Amino acid sequence: MNDEKITAEAVLTDTEITQEQELTSDEIYEKSKFALETENLTVSFYGREAISDINVKYRKHTVNAIIGPSGCGKSTFLRALNFMHDLTPGAVVSGSIKIHGRDISEYDMTNVRRRVGMVFQKPNPFPTMSIYENVTAGLTLHKRHGRRILDETVEKSLRLAGLWEETKDRLKVSAMALSGGQQQRLCIARTLAINPEIILFDEPTSALDPISTSKIEESIHELKKDYTIIVVTHNMQQASRVSDYTSFFFLGKLIEHSKTRTVFTSPKNKLTEEYVIGKFG
Ligand SMILES: Nc1ncnc2c1ncn2[C@@H]1O[C@H](COP(=O)(O)OP(=O)(O)OP(=O)(O)O)[C@@H](O)[C@H]1O
Ligand SMILES: [Mg+2]
Repeated sequence: MNDEKITAEAVLTDTEITQEQELTSDEIYEKSKFALETENLTVSFYGREAISDINVKYRKHTVNAIIGPSGCGKSTFLRALNFMHDLTPGAVVSGSIKIHGRDISEYDMTNVRRRVGMVFQKPNPFPTMSIYENVTAGLTLHKRHGRRILDETVEKSLRLAGLWEETKDRLKVSAMALSGGQQQRLCIARTLAINPEIILFDEPTSALDPISTSKIEESIHELKKDYTIIVVTHNMQQASRVSDYTSFFFLGKLIEHSKTRTVFTSPKNKLTEEYVIGKFG
């Protein structure tokens, strides 16, 4: 009799857990104000801390800039948010990362990786693939999609990345036929195609001319309607043009995370002020 009761309770508890886990991703998404949060995020390489105790919350549908001198840990932080240190020799990550208010350990790892996309400083299209194949590369890795879905995804992603008009008549051409700025927009389209929620950009325009740069800045601005964006930049004008919030990193620490206007007009921290007015860096 007792045994039966325990079993019944166990089943009930299991069901509750299942219901909780079966919240659709839209429901989980709606529940949290923040797309991404870190708590005491620390990354060391061979025992030496590159970033220490980073605590920050990124609101949904905002663009967030990260600024700071070379070597202060910006890329290390971004890579941690994209779970890339799992593969880096000597790297140890501690602290926690939450997506939509839930610790990443509560998600299936493939699912987590799909939610966070990253665009690197140097455009890195797959050289042997066409423009079309580059955009669909991430999709076809995961599962088979019908031709119509693939066509729609390619058009939508290239439009959002601001590259559709320039490529719609030559989608079968090699990605290497594109200019550097176009290749970078292709890489953005490839990231968008897998439908992430958070997109990380590590100095996406540092190798580009002003026109390509402004196209990418326009895309970033458009993207915040649907995505949460974090962008590392050495360009202070870019940070103030594109972002809602700015984080200032210095020697592996997050010194300040405030509204962009505050960071550039009346920063709370003296170090931030000295950096943004160009006293060092
Ligand atoms: N894979 C690695 N192995 C060992 N040390 C590393 C590794 N990656 C980064 N570091 C160290 O971590 C620190 C932060 O580097 P990181 O690349 O994050 O700086 P950054 O702020 O992105 O600089 P930049 O503006 O020049 O791109 C540096 O001291 C760097 O040498
Ligand atoms: Mg870097």
